[in-house]
Formats: sequence, structure tokens, C-alpha cells
Amino acid sequence: MKFIRFVSEFLKHPKQVGAVAESSPFLARKMVRQIGGATDIVEFGPGTGAVTKEILRHLPENGKLTCFEINPSFCEQLKAIKDPRLKVINDDVKNCGRYVDNLDCIVSSLPLAAFDESEKEEVLALSSKSRTYIQFQYNPFLKSKLKRYFRDVKIKFVPLNIPPAFVYVSKNPRHKAIRSEYRSQRKAQRDIFSRQVTRTTLRVSLVYANLLALISKILKA
Ligand SMILES: C[S@@+](CC[C@H](N)C(=O)[O-])C[C@H]1O[C@@H](n2cnc3c(N)ncnc32)[C@H](O)[C@@H]1O
Repeated sequence: MKFIRFVSEFLKHPKQVGAVAESSPFLARKMVRQIGGATDIVEFGPGTGAVTKEILRHLPENGKLTCFEINPSFCEQLKAIKDPRLKVINDDVKNCGRYVDNLDCIVSSLPLAAFDESEKEEVLALSSKSRTYIQFQYNPFLKSKLKRYFRDVKIKFVPLNIPPAFVYVSKNPRHKAIRSEYRSQRKAQRDIFSRQVTRTTLRVSLVYANLLALISKILKA
């Protein structure tokens, strides 16, 4: 049933679904093993939930999993997973900022190879807001692109999947946006400091001028 739904959705939206079969348990396990200790997880493109269920199996009781799936039929299936830690959002991942403010760990099955270049860059830029970005693909050619957004990118090969897959584990984001935010904070701090110095200098000068006036009055008297 799940297989039929997957194939029929693939036939209707081949570029969007990007796979003829859902991920194998081997691939799902390999992806989830990369999560480490993160407990607030965001999943991009969960489809029928092969990776989602594996994440939930390992997530602590107080953990959180928010899934973004564009396909309403897949969302219906995901919503049938009754788990209080799971939230399913039927929207494009590009809008995820409207729903979550923590993108600490992203687990993604998005078919990036089928996306056009600007769409792909948009997703990668968005994903680089995370500390750990786990993405699978059916080709080994994403590394150089990921290196522009993350300092550490590792590839793991999973042969037992149809077709065999590559899991990219990206960490240590270059955080361009965060760096520029930090720079503007530092500039604001420097501005505050220089205003304080100016104010203090003015106050000291005023006290000094009053003191001089007082001394000259005393000397005249
Ligand atoms: C290759 S399938 C992976 C399904 C599942 N995670 C698995 O591993 O079996 C990719 C999924 O990404 C979803 N998807 C594609 N573009 C998306 C987008 N812009 N926003 C959210 N989901 C998207 C598709 O609907 C599809 O379910």
C-alpha cells in the first residue's frame, strides 16, 4: 500500500518526489546515526515516513521532530503516525522559518539533484543555519557545493538501497549571516563605547573648567 502510494506520487510528481521507492531501513539507520545528541530535529521531505519513524525510534521522550512535506497525500500518511513528539507541516521547506526558529539539526531527503540551481542554493543556504545537516542523495557530487556552506562535509555510502545512496553529513556551518550579525553587534558596541567616552570626556572637561573658574575666583579674591 505504502509502496503503491509512493510509486503513484512519483508518477504524478517525478521531479518533486525524486525517487521510485522509499528509503531502505539501512539508509534510514545510517542517516539517523549521524544525529548525535540533538533532540530538536527538523526533517525535510519525509515522504511516507521511512526516515521519520527511525528518527522517532531514537528520539528521547522530551525530543521534538518537525517535518516539512510538500505533498498532501504523504502528509496524510505521516499524520497517521500518532506520536506527540511529531509535528507534520504540509508546506514547502522554503517556508520553514514561519513555523520553527530552531534549525539545530536537519535531516533531509529532498531530491536536490532534481531542483533547479537557484532552488538548490536556496535550500542549502537555509540548511546552513543548522549545526548538523544530514542529506542523502543518489550521487556523490554535492560535496563541493556543501563545502561553500559548511567547513566539515563527510560522505557515507549506503549500498543497500534502491538505488544505492550517499549520505552527506555537514557540520560547522560557515554562518555568513551570523558572522555579519556579529560584526554589526560589535560595531553597535563600539558606537555605544565611543558615545560613553565622549560623554565622560565632556563631563570631566566641565568639572575641570568649573574647578579652574573656582580657582581663578579664589585667586582674584
Ligand atoms: C526522495 S523522497 C524521500 C521520501 C522519504 N524521506 C524516504 O526517504 O523514503 C523526497 C520527498 O521530498 C518531498 N519534497 C520535495 N520538494 C519539497 C519541498 N520543496 N518542500 C517539502 N518537501 C519536498 C517530496 O514530496 C518527497 O516526499
